[in-house]
Amino acid sequence: MEKMLRIVVLVSGSGSNLQNLLDGIAEKTLTGVRIVGVISNNAGAYALERARKANIPALAISPKEFPSREMFYQRLEAALEDFQPDLMVLAGFLVVLPENLVKKYENRILNIHPSLIPAFCGSGNYGRKVHENAIARGVKLSGATVHFVDAGTDTGPILLQKSVPVFPDDTPEILQKRVQQDAEAVLLPQAVQLIADGRVFFRDGNAYVREVLEDETLGT
Ligand code: GRF
Repeated sequence: MEKMLRIVVLVSGSGSNLQNLLDGIAEKTLTGVRIVGVISNNAGAYALERARKANIPALAISPKEFPSREMFYQRLEAALEDFQPDLMVLAGFLVVLPENLVKKYENRILNIHPSLIPAFCGSGNYGRKVHENAIARGVKLSGATVHFVDAGTDTGPILLQKSVPVFPDDTPEILQKRVQQDAEAVLLPQAVQLIADGRVFFRDGNAYVREVLEDETLGT
């Protein structure tokens, strides 16, 4: 049997990026991957409901339930360990992972960010804020970035980017919607597929996609 890439998706909110992955798997446009678990730091996240509807084990692990940050991180690490993931996907996950976890899963954690990194990223640039800042700066293009996670905030190796236009009358809400529908929805399933297909490689601290030669597709 074909080896399945085991994925754990970490979420905090609505889970539209999780849904894009679930839909891709259901529609078989995303193959060779299995979402083995979903973890949210917020028990009220709609993303948990999306997971349960798809019969995927879904856990809420909230920092509020633990006496210290350290204990929260330990619980998170143990939960991840149980799922034995090949890949972790941060899909709107608002918690910064501790350094030891980032190291342990080096080059195996993906994040999606709703701008063209290095624009409008780093601490403070999350959710609606990213789009407010893009509009305030008057950029004509924005978009989304899928990158691997390193010890910094939005600083890890970039895997894929997709741009969308920014129009003069855009509000942050309108731009956010365009980025989600036209960039994020395409980019995250595509990135996961590339990893499942073994086409991602690293060189000099950057991530790249290996081209498939015609011979290989013909199976010669
Ligand atoms: C998305 O815009 C994602 O790029 C960002 O947070 C948002 C999460 O949305 N990191 P959702 O929970 O996937 O709907």
